[in-house]
Amino acid sequence: MSEMLRDAARRGYAVPCFNAINLDMIRGIIAAAEEERSPVILCHAEIHFKYTPLETIAPIMVRAMNEAKVPVSILLDHGKSFSAVMKAMHLGFNAIMFDGSEHDYEENVRRTAEVVKIARTLGVSVEGELGYVTRPKSGGAEGEDDDSIIDDTSLYTDPQQAKDFVERTGIDALAAAFGTVHGIYLKKPELDVERLERIRDAAGVPIVMHGGSGLSEEEFHRTIDRGVAKINYYTGMALKVMDRARERIAGTTGSLFYHEHMMQVIQDIKEDAQSIMRTFRSSGKA
Ligand code: 13P
Repeated sequence: MSEMLRDAARRGYAVPCFNAINLDMIRGIIAAAEEERSPVILCHAEIHFKYTPLETIAPIMVRAMNEAKVPVSILLDHGKSFSAVMKAMHLGFNAIMFDGSEHDYEENVRRTAEVVKIARTLGVSVEGELGYVTRPKSGGAEGEDDDSIIDDTSLYTDPQQAKDFVERTGIDALAAAFGTVHGIYLKKPELDVERLERIRDAAGVPIVMHGGSGLSEEEFHRTIDRGVAKINYYTGMALKVMDRARERIAGTTGSLFYHEHMMQVIQDIKEDAQSIMRTFRSSGKA
């Protein structure tokens, strides 16, 4: 993942990172990446283990990565517990997003550095989070945040602290908070792209933007042009695929076979992933 992100930062695109919580999502996303000639990151978040256990999805992801005709990385998303991080590495994930953002600064540094130390010996890339990207109405999250903190700038990443964080932890990529939220935007986002530029310059590693769903094409381009090299995206796809399914089912009479629905869902996932790859300018970069 580290190599992928350095290439993206150098050539001015972002690698899409999709939460792929089942086989249909993995198939749709890989098909999109191959057709678009795009590098891609498949991820599974610790908050989604209740839908699909890590042990179940890991071998499927590893196989998809090994068989794909384009570069694929597989990442544990928002790993918070030491056991999830260790299990993911053991099961073949080659990237870990360790999320220590709920701890105070020193504890975040300590825990992230510990993960980096182990990951290094295994050649696994690590993304850390500094600042806090909130989740007001997020798919699968437990305990939704209070809406009033959506644009609380005190939760945004501090550029000077970002420099210290990268130096002391040794992370390969930094998830930064500058106005995006996970899940559905309850008010129009105001991205602090000036702060983003300062974070990029101070951190010296590729910047990751979480909460990709709900931004405009222009907002994506503004952030990519200012150093964002990986964008996490889930909610938009999860909602779009179900909207399509709802229309299709409502317009159908007679027998409805699950396998037909499944194949259509894979196609819908593929189309959404392709459109994201074109927007992130990762199409044609593999
Ligand atoms: P969205 O669900 O808002 O696209 O965010 C995804 C994400 O950041 C996962 O880590």
